[in-house]
Amino acid sequence: MLSNEAFQVRYTIALMQNPGKSVLISEQEIQRRVAEMGVRISEDYKGQSLSVVGVLKGSFIFIADLIRNIDPAIPVEIDFMTVSSYGSGTRSSGELRIERDVEGSLEGKNVLLVEDIVDSGLTLSAVKDLLLSRNPQSLRIVALIEKETNRRHPVPLDYVGFRIPDVFVVGYGLDLAQHYRNLKEIRILDAG
Ligand code: PRP
Repeated sequence: MLSNEAFQVRYTIALMQNPGKSVLISEQEIQRRVAEMGVRISEDYKGQSLSVVGVLKGSFIFIADLIRNIDPAIPVEIDFMTVSSYGSGTRSSGELRIERDVEGSLEGKNVLLVEDIVDSGLTLSAVKDLLLSRNPQSLRIVALIEKETNRRHPVPLDYVGFRIPDVFVVGYGLDLAQHYRNLKEIRILDAG
């Protein structure tokens, strides 16, 4: 008998083969919005420099597009963190494990923390606290997607690409069991 996980993967593959029904945000919509966000960020950081910190893995495509939409007159440096929050069972405890920390000092810098998606807010709230402890000059947060529901640990976001319902999405960096990150668009998996 198929496990729940195997069934989910099978269901997902079936849905992926029916693209007309599962696209939530098209490639064009993403590119347009990311360009707008780049303009906003460029205005806000005019005359300053910027230290972008991405939370891997999901944010890697968003970061690549976002920084290319920031005014080249603004000096931009990039760093990455890999984190996981874990706990008993399937629920995260909110305890943050740093798999990979940023390489450089954030002291006195204008840090822009980049997430692909904010669901419960657990990851972001923990990463935010951690980065604030590094004494940046400023810290703002940008997320491509914020789920409208299920935010148990609300974190104010400075820039948001899209607000979506509480559905499972993949593509444009977002995964299901490490797959589908390479899709150019964002697709919904639990359409029911
Ligand atoms: C995803 C996403 C966020 C987090 C959001 O990461 O990239 O970091 O979950 O969920 P939360 O708001 O409930 O904390 P994931 O653990 O799937 O790792 P990944 O980025 O490597 O896909």
